[in-house]
Amino acid sequence: MRVLHVATEVYPWVKTGGLADVVGALPPALIRAGVDARLFLPGLPGILDGLTDAEPILDLGDAFGATEARVLAGRLADSGVPAYVLDAPGLFDRPGNPYLDENQQDYSDNHRRFALLGWAAARFQHDDWQPDVVHAHDWHAGLVPAWQALAGAPRAASVFTVHNLAFQGLVPAEQAPELGLPSRCFNVDGIEFHGQASFMKAGLYYADRLTTVSPTYATEIQSAPAGVGLEGLLAGRGEAGELVGILNGVDVDVWNPATDTELAAHYDVDHPRPKARNKAALQRALGLADEPDAPLFCLVSRLTEQKGIDLVVAGLDALIAAGGQLALLGSGEPTIEAALEDAAARYPQRVSVTIGYDEALSHRLIGSADFILVPSRYEPCGLTQLYGLRYGTLPVVTQVGGLADTVIDATEQSVADGRATGIVLADVTPEAMDEALRRAIALYRCEKDRQTVSESAMRADFSWQRSAARYIELYRSLLPAEQTAL
Ligand code: ADP
Ligand code: GLC
Repeated sequence: MRVLHVATEVYPWVKTGGLADVVGALPPALIRAGVDARLFLPGLPGILDGLTDAEPILDLGDAFGATEARVLAGRLADSGVPAYVLDAPGLFDRPGNPYLDENQQDYSDNHRRFALLGWAAARFQHDDWQPDVVHAHDWHAGLVPAWQALAGAPRAASVFTVHNLAFQGLVPAEQAPELGLPSRCFNVDGIEFHGQASFMKAGLYYADRLTTVSPTYATEIQSAPAGVGLEGLLAGRGEAGELVGILNGVDVDVWNPATDTELAAHYDVDHPRPKARNKAALQRALGLADEPDAPLFCLVSRLTEQKGIDLVVAGLDALIAAGGQLALLGSGEPTIEAALEDAAARYPQRVSVTIGYDEALSHRLIGSADFILVPSRYEPCGLTQLYGLRYGTLPVVTQVGGLADTVIDATEQSVADGRATGIVLADVTPEAMDEALRRAIALYRCEKDRQTVSESAMRADFSWQRSAARYIELYRSLLPAEQTAL
């Protein structure tokens, strides 16, 4: 079975969030399961850096305002996954964030950049390599299923995965003709959304099957507010059995406390004690008080409204009063960054705030802290709580999306049964946050229960192998019987 994944980010070459982790790990997991999975990616500088054995195979001329566009074939240097890269320097050769300029504004030609990606990926084939399934990720690749549908049969099946419905790729009506699609597509039965063109809606409307990254989020987006205006379309596709939630996994080569090269000491579920050395090293490095018995909370996140950081700020006084410490790493909205820096200034030795993006520090925080906070307002899947589970760094999460699907709240009963893996907030409010922090600290102080919960957390299986098997099942269901052999 041949599957072409179309996406804009892939760890470790270009990453703004969890999408990169998924695109870096799912194709290799599919390959291990016998699928011929390949990638189709835009020629962003990081992706070109990661491509080895690159060879031009196709010239696309000057489409969509690119003065020149061609496709390079090669392999990603780390994973060896075959990759086709759309090399269009006029559109993609830009340093920094793939979507935003140096003033953090969307590039004004984003619609053309990702229109080219969709058009080129949908029609792509190489010699005798033709995909059976084209699997497009998030709004940037939303036009892929539209172009596929327009091509008519015979064609590859199309799958579109929503990683975050809040980012939709909206295009003002006057720019819609630049997308290159026939004008009939600019219709409510098509890509039109309240008078604008929507890349996200194109994917949702035209793909043969839709997936999102957790079962609970798949249900949530079929109603307001999580459906952000697309709930009607999503509910229809859900009722038709064309929308499923498949949980993301953990790349266990990248996130493994027994081998993680960023950690001072390695540990695993059978030998958890060395983790204390990481905590001591981190406290020292970040200027936190050298207190081995202080419950240490960490947080690694984009700092946006979605992530509920205001709840952490609101809960901080109580956390500190109870003897806790907080080490936070993130970047995003300036007002949230300022509130956090203010908190760090108020609590020297108890609160450490690092503003920025730092892959190594993210591993050290998750490999050292006792708890990881993920109090999101909504969360399609969430990966840091999964990393926390694997590192015995207990997640404190809201009961939304993938957080609800992956963390089992520590109640008297679930701890006794050996099922508990973290702390789940009863609600998305400061009061619920206070209560959750209080429960987390009580758990921390009860060594026996803490060990039981840590062990269950570290044994929880969120490997990609399981999720890849679900995707393979989905791909198979879309192919004619004679083609379903791997
Ligand atoms: P989202 O994709 O919504 O940002 P996820 O939890 O799915 O949320 O994925 C976030 C990914 O980005 C994780 O791999 C996390 O470790 C990483 N990450 C987020 N912020 C930072 C940061 N400031 N420094 C390093 N890694 C970060
Ligand atoms: C999005 C979501 C996050 C998810 C990630 C990967 O960025 O916000 O919840 O884990 O995509 O699917």
